[in-house]
Amino acid sequence: MKTLHQSPVDPNFVQNPYPIYDAARAHGDLVYWADYRMHAAVSHRAVQALLKDRRFGREVPAEMQRPGPAHLAPWLMVESHSLLEAEPPRHTRLRRLVMRAFTSRAIAALEPTIHDLSHKLIDAFPDASFDLLDTYCMQVPVVTICRLLGVPEEMSPELLRWSHDMVAMYQASRTRQTEDAAAASAKEFTDFLSSYVEKRRSDPRDDLITRLIAAEEDGEKLSRDELVATCILLLNAGHEATVHSLGNGLRTVLQQGVKADAFQPETIDATVEEILRFDPPLHMFTRYAYEEIDLFGHSFKRGDEVALLLGAANRDPQVWAEPHKFDPTRPILTNSSFGAGLHFCVGAPLARLEMRIALAALFERCPNLALSAEPEYSNSYHFHGLKRLMVQV
Ligand code: HEM
Repeated sequence: MKTLHQSPVDPNFVQNPYPIYDAARAHGDLVYWADYRMHAAVSHRAVQALLKDRRFGREVPAEMQRPGPAHLAPWLMVESHSLLEAEPPRHTRLRRLVMRAFTSRAIAALEPTIHDLSHKLIDAFPDASFDLLDTYCMQVPVVTICRLLGVPEEMSPELLRWSHDMVAMYQASRTRQTEDAAAASAKEFTDFLSSYVEKRRSDPRDDLITRLIAAEEDGEKLSRDELVATCILLLNAGHEATVHSLGNGLRTVLQQGVKADAFQPETIDATVEEILRFDPPLHMFTRYAYEEIDLFGHSFKRGDEVALLLGAANRDPQVWAEPHKFDPTRPILTNSSFGAGLHFCVGAPLARLEMRIALAALFERCPNLALSAEPEYSNSYHFHGLKRLMVQV
């Protein structure tokens, strides 16, 4: 098996990981990534197979679980009750409760809100060059997830800070400072939501928090810690990836001079899927093997970790002709950007809706939108997103 030596903090790799993915994939479905000391799936078929294989999962195997360091306690508390970190039967129960509250009706009802929000944000665009990531790509998902959950929009700056601090824990370049910030933000976030839930209990509304509170009160189904952790997961996951899907997509579209035809009602779905395939915001997730498994020429032992490189899977030439070409007219095929299997993204329909509306509104209102500086990705692998996106209308 090929060994890949590639630092995940090498700036060249972070700016453009795709040539390395190609080189790795040329050796097969799996490579051994020496820097992470684990195997990594790099082809579409291997990433999809591992995501769907129930012999692998996200929860740390029981015999490997260790109490974390005391200074991380608030962050670990949230993680330990998160559905993203659980496997059945806990995952089944938590996911069912979230899905009961996160209905397609509730998502569809957001359409006019997202539409109005997009237009209001565009109304306020300055004439001079400005950062579209901050003023648009970030605002649409943050305000939308606040409205869906029923959290005051004025809380957006705090939510953004807490969320950034918490998700920074997944970066390859994590330090003690990262950990302290994550713990402090997890504590503030938990305290805020605990008291907010209390307030909302006596003042129910038609929102997701109210529906989750009903699930908590409905017998033993959702504990208080699970309720808070679920809200935090939804608030964080509900914007971090969508912001950068929009940002990465707009970078590509503006650099390649994609025309307004790609944002019409009959073409927008294919454009959004191509944006998600071409340059996804999340590149790597991991799984633990729960038993001995022979797959793609490798024998996994229980407890082995394996990396699933979603960004590599999406550029697999076995599935997409000319995978490095951005082509919004491609037929839609399943890509790996939202994962697959048990943990398939709960928010995929919402993210797609936001992207469709926000992109269509932007190109309708700003047909001459153009880059005013070369965009650069933030120096973090895994969260693949821009530092800023300077444009002029
Ligand atoms: C374009 C935007 C998004 C992308 C690319 C994305 C990507 C993903 C991926 C890859 C996973 C699976 C991780 C794994 O298998 O280990 C996931 C899970 C999840 N996502 Fe998203 N996501 C996006 C938007 C959202 C939104 C808007 C929400 C919520 C409103 C959300 C909520 C979740 C939740 C709750 C999970 C955990 C599901 C589970 O463990 O069963 N995501 N997402």
